[in-house]
Amino acid sequence: MTSILMTSVRDDEQAAIQDYAAKHHITIQTTPKLINDALDLVPGNDGVIIQQRGAVSEDVYGVLEANGIKQLTTRTAGVDTIDLHLAHQHSLVVTNVPAYSPRSVAEFALMQIFRMLRHTYAFDHQVAANDFSWHGLQSKEIHSATIGIIGVGRIGGTLAKLLHALNATVLGYDTKPRTDLDGIVRFVSKKELLQQSDVVTLHVNLNPTAEGLIAAEDFKLMKPTAALVNASRGPVVVTKDLVTALQTHQIQAAALDTVEGEAAIFAQDHSQTGIAKQLPLVDELNKMDNVILTPHIAFYTNVAVQNMVDIALDDVLSIINGQAPQNEVR
Ligand SMILES: NC(=O)c1ccc[n+]([C@@H]2O[C@H](COP(=O)([O-])OP(=O)(O)OC[C@H]3O[C@@H](n4cnc5c(N)ncnc54)[C@H](O)[C@@H]3O)[C@@H](O)[C@H]2O)c1
Repeated sequence: MTSILMTSVRDDEQAAIQDYAAKHHITIQTTPKLINDALDLVPGNDGVIIQQRGAVSEDVYGVLEANGIKQLTTRTAGVDTIDLHLAHQHSLVVTNVPAYSPRSVAEFALMQIFRMLRHTYAFDHQVAANDFSWHGLQSKEIHSATIGIIGVGRIGGTLAKLLHALNATVLGYDTKPRTDLDGIVRFVSKKELLQQSDVVTLHVNLNPTAEGLIAAEDFKLMKPTAALVNASRGPVVVTKDLVTALQTHQIQAAALDTVEGEAAIFAQDHSQTGIAKQLPLVDELNKMDNVILTPHIAFYTNVAVQNMVDIALDDVLSIINGQAPQNEVR
């Protein structure tokens, strides 16, 4: 029977994994360990699927090849953990899961857009302190608001359709504007989008042109009543400029699911020690009443977890059976 080793497995993935194993009549061996620390489990398996933030250690590639493994699959979109050159030297086909559920992040961004428009960040803090006054924070209804999407790809495009269904005015800025969203998104310059939007939401992929895409001069263009949502990647926003923009009321609020340097704090409990030592600027943001921070969980839904498991395993089985995988990374 075909047997596949999955590393860094969380408890919440087990149901999807066992379901797949039963449906496809295969064995799936799981471990919470990183592949770097689980090489003793490789013998006897026909395929390997990983998921980790740190680099795959150099000895892994040789061990996989020596055990007759033909592939290395990561059940994530990012492949920066894998040394493609080394993998190919060891005859390993590398695959990933480029899109597990654009809807998961789009729905999360939509929720944060509503929270920005309805000022719930402020009311949550006030009410927690028994202050039930209104403070003149009148909201805009979504169909009267203009939402600017920067990066109208898989997630940005999905969000655009959700916003259009709610009758919001949707502006888009992308280095590759799309014609299939005619009537849903009006593509404009970055400057126009920043000037006109009530909420600016970021959905670019991280690349050299996207790093520092939102900096001091961009915040100056935004309305003082506008808010920023970032569920893309931390380095897209210059954190120190965002802190200044919020402190000087150049913008009203921000919802951040991702921040620069997040690997130092996200997916860990820092409730006893705080985060000031690791990320002082993020610590400052976290103390602001007009900032909502979440630990990179926009993707974390039932559908996304199932898809990460299914798409990764489909490709491993294809390779084992001598067929071309859907998501090879070259
Ligand atoms: N928060 C989460 O949980 C989570 C989960 C999944 C993905 N993401 C992130 O969401 C982002 C979008 O993912 P996707 O699958 O929609 O990517 P995608 O590749 O489908 O779309 C990205 C879009 O950004 C555009 N773009 C790139 N650089 C640009 C620039 N400098 N200016 C304007 N547009 C630019 C591209 O042309 C493309 O249309 C990625 O950064 C990804 O890492 C976050």
